[in-house]
Amino acid sequence: MGTTMSDPRALFLHELGDIFYAEQQIVKSLPKLIDEATDSELVEGFTRHLQETNRQVENLHRVFDELGETAKGEKCPGIEGLMKEHDQFMEEHQPSAMVRDTFLTGAAARVEHYEIAAYTGLIAMAIGMEETTAARLLSENLEQEKRALDAVVTVGERLAGDARPGSAA
Ligand SMILES: [Fe+2]
Ligand SMILES: [Fe+2]
Repeated sequence: MGTTMSDPRALFLHELGDIFYAEQQIVKSLPKLIDEATDSELVEGFTRHLQETNRQVENLHRVFDELGETAKGEKCPGIEGLMKEHDQFMEEHQPSAMVRDTFLTGAAARVEHYEIAAYTGLIAMAIGMEETTAARLLSENLEQEKRALDAVVTVGERLAGDARPGSAA
């Protein structure tokens, strides 16, 4: 049990610290996904998103600055759970390249949905606090997450089509 949080700004900073931690974990894990993926579009997508994620971390530094706070991560069990699920699946099932690529599109989509939810809430809170620069920076990150989600969903659909019985792939 902690102390009672009654300040909306404290919640904002908590959730900002949470996504800041999550983005740093994603920076660390994307090189692993790039290695594991074989589909060239998926490899390119992960590589592009790694560059974007580095900029997202910079944007979050700027959001902390905007609020006059020191950037500080908040250990986030949500993102760790998603990553653990990936690691466990890879270890237990040692999937073939085809299955692995499809699995990775789903694993990545779960992370993007998590990030989209986090940024959507943060932007609403930033607007509520009239922190317009913070809201704009967070919106930049949100738009990148939405595009990243679309990209992995598109690859996932193509791979599912290739796997159809009688498909020429
Ligand atoms: Fe991100
Ligand atoms: Fe992302």
